[in-house]
Amino acid sequence: MSRVHVTTTVNGDETEFLCDPRETLLDCLRDRLNLTGAKEGCGTGDCGACSVTLDGRLVCSCLVLGVEAEGREIGTIEGVAQGDELHPLQRKFIEHAALQCGICTPGILVAAKALLEKSPDPTEEEVRYWLAGNLCRCTGYDKIIRAVMDTAAEMREAV
Ligand code: FES
Ligand code: FES
Repeated sequence: MSRVHVTTTVNGDETEFLCDPRETLLDCLRDRLNLTGAKEGCGTGDCGACSVTLDGRLVCSCLVLGVEAEGREIGTIEGVAQGDELHPLQRKFIEHAALQCGICTPGILVAAKALLEKSPDPTEEEVRYWLAGNLCRCTGYDKIIRAVMDTAAEMREAV
């Protein structure tokens, strides 16, 4: 099958890659661009481990084709920290021990960041609802929710 040339923007940088037309965005990120932060937990849109943003909208990259990235803006976990400076969510996840094996963590961080950009003062219910599509088999979720709520409070104070 002939390959398709895709030009896109990933974490603010214009990027191009060649892919098969049937290849998922997740596989393109991981295998073509070596951005291995997004994980494949299920490949069927059920676990959220592959979460990225596409033009600012949270998506499961296992359900998007790489060719659909043409001309779009992709945000991945690799763009969340600013150089050596962790995003407040990343710091709070460490402080609250909100990760164990880490497979779900990149997707949860990308999803939580998208939530706080849209809703800087979320209720616990909103956080739980927003993250309902991100499955974690290790932490029991409470530490994750506390880390997100604590981040939101810190970011509001910083404004
Ligand atoms: S790998 Fe995409 S939702 Fe699970
Ligand atoms: S920390 Fe292991 S799946 Fe969430």
